[in-house]
Amino acid sequence: MEKIIEAYTGLTIEGKKSQTPAKYDKLLTATGVVLALFMMGHMFFVSTILLGKDVMYKVTKLFELDFIFEGGLPIIVSIFVAIISFIFIIHALLGIRKFPTSYKTYIKVKEHAKMMNHKDTSMWMFQWISGLIMIFAASIHLYIMFTQPENIGPYASAQRVVSENMWLLYAILLICVEIHGSVGLYRAAMKWGWFDGENPKETRKKLYNTKKALSAFFLVLGFITLLAYVKIGIENGSQPGIKYTPKNNISIEISKK
Ligand code: HEM
Repeated sequence: MEKIIEAYTGLTIEGKKSQTPAKYDKLLTATGVVLALFMMGHMFFVSTILLGKDVMYKVTKLFELDFIFEGGLPIIVSIFVAIISFIFIIHALLGIRKFPTSYKTYIKVKEHAKMMNHKDTSMWMFQWISGLIMIFAASIHLYIMFTQPENIGPYASAQRVVSENMWLLYAILLICVEIHGSVGLYRAAMKWGWFDGENPKETRKKLYNTKKALSAFFLVLGFITLLAYVKIGIENGSQPGIKYTPKNNISIEISKK
């Protein structure tokens, strides 16, 4: 309890400057970096559909460790989802500390950002608004992945995107996560001085451009990928629950439906 009070007020019970907020800030950055790296890997995994259904199928089976357990074990994916969810919850709880505590504070920050025309303040505002959206949207996605790991694959995923209308949730999540992730990495690099060089202005400019390039790359890749799933989902529209059979016919995608 003491630590929580310290995290919010920045002061110990005795009124001295507490070390806890700095520790929590470090943990916020560390969990954020892990999630950002995971999201990059995740995007590459999901986008293997662009290389063909067989490739996405094989990668899915790889995550189920089919090279150890014949046919793959979907529960391994559930365990992985639980670990990511845990890191996500820790990151969210630490991030919530940074939200404006009232509407009045929010208006003040907004006015301040407008007046200063300060990019970093506007970015900070985007961080907590997108963070708030993700607490809801990502929880839905993580819950589905946790409870239905056997329904991941070229056809099952496409069906979820189209027939179960997940495309809308994914589109919102995609915009939030890709901007939140790159802004987060940029702000962390600036705050902790990871790339500090001789010329701070030059470093800031370079990091800012890298941030923009990262967001743009993953947003474009994400939307093309989403369209690929939509296309497969529409093509299979008349046969819901259809199972994907890989070309070499060794095993088939398991689908509940
Ligand atoms: C271990 C945890 C996760 C797993 C196993 C997972 C798996 C998947 C899979 C298989 C898809 C393809 C569509 C589908 O099957 O429904 C997908 C799409 C997506 N996921 Fe995740 N996901 C995880 C965590 C997350 C997190 C934490 C976020 C964001 C905060 C996220 C954001 C997205 C987005 C935005 C898409 C749509 C991407 C696109 O279509 O371009 N995922 N995910």
